[in-house]
Amino acid sequence: MNPFLISGYEKPELFCDRRTETKKLLNAIENSRNVTLISERRLGKTSLLNHVNYLLEKEVVFIYIDLYPTLLLKDFVNLLSAKILEKLEPFSDKVIRKITGFFSAFKPKFSFDPETGTPSFELTISSISEAEKSVSLLLEYIRNSEKKVVLAFDEFQQITKYPEKNIEALLRSEIQKDNRTCFIFSGSQTHLLIAMFSAYSRPFYNSTEIMNLTQINQEEYVKFIIQKFSKGGFSIEKETANHIYSRNIGITYNVQYHCHKLFSKGEKEILITGVDKICKEILKENEVVYFNYRELLTSLQYRLVKAIAKETHVEKPYSNEFTTKYNLGSSSSIRTAIKNLSEKGILIQQNGVHLSDWYFSLWLKTQM
Ligand SMILES: Nc1ncnc2c1ncn2[C@@H]1O[C@H](COP(=O)(O)OP(=O)(O)OP(=O)(O)O)[C@@H](O)[C@H]1O
Ligand SMILES: [Mg+2]
Repeated sequence: MNPFLISGYEKPELFCDRRTETKKLLNAIENSRNVTLISERRLGKTSLLNHVNYLLEKEVVFIYIDLYPTLLLKDFVNLLSAKILEKLEPFSDKVIRKITGFFSAFKPKFSFDPETGTPSFELTISSISEAEKSVSLLLEYIRNSEKKVVLAFDEFQQITKYPEKNIEALLRSEIQKDNRTCFIFSGSQTHLLIAMFSAYSRPFYNSTEIMNLTQINQEEYVKFIIQKFSKGGFSIEKETANHIYSRNIGITYNVQYHCHKLFSKGEKEILITGVDKICKEILKENEVVYFNYRELLTSLQYRLVKAIAKETHVEKPYSNEFTTKYNLGSSSSIRTAIKNLSEKGILIQQNGVHLSDWYFSLWLKTQM
């Protein structure tokens, strides 16, 4: 079995480090402190939440909710109610009666997922104010539970995109009523989350402990890489493992993907030349996607993205030095392009600007 996972979480042995972060989250859960977990994309937020869930004592109910697919408050309500039935209450006649009574105003309808057989229930909601009331009631239902609950909302920034406007204030006031449940808000659109949790004017201001996940420590990752390859019968020098880490600037997904590919290729002696060859293969594989980007972007946007990729990170994208070097034109049009590209998730603005996809960045570096 390939020990380098490229999706999901399996078990602690396949999970590298994150000891400090795990301890911090477990402590926050134990003491019912709410946490906002942020990082750039693909560093391992979701996996860390899974890891914590794996380690939690069995009495604690961990409800993980990925909000990414939700577009409306109603979707939020449906997901939350489905998860309550899946995780909090073992399905029984008694529970059906209890839920029917508690949510009687919303005529709960029970159903089973045709594929997995998982039970869920849906509330009948016909207006925004009903949707809001149902959120309050769902959180009250959790509060009334005898069990300690962790409610982890992944991709939480999604709520800012719902057409219903006061959901932040509504959630905040419900959460304040609860000092036993631990709420975790996680997401990768850091600017949206930071704005939500650290702007004075916003309901969630100063209401949670902010945890910023960065790259896994290089030394720890190198140890992990060597150990997993050795166990699989491969030989790899420390220098080569360090090379894999740096080639992927320590971004968890990319390091994992690179190692996964090397492992599946099966060449038992891993050398730096082999590492670089796999990197080229990965870029070649993705090329069709990158060509597609070129079609989708305007000429200025594409030239700008390429220029930023060539520099890896640009601290001052409006400076004369940068714009002249790459012949990019006026800073006002660059400003608009950066704004659009950030909204599309292609660029990340943090102490300057860089690309969100490291492999795309590496590929652009090879382009004329
Ligand atoms: N500590 C770890 N050890 C080994 N692999 C990990 C670790 N953390 C994450 N991964 C792997 O890295 C990849 C990215 O992780 P994950 O999806 O958790 O990141 P994320 O920050 O939630 O990403 P996104 O921003 O896209 O939601 C996954 O394939 C996961 O299996
Ligand atoms: Mg994630």
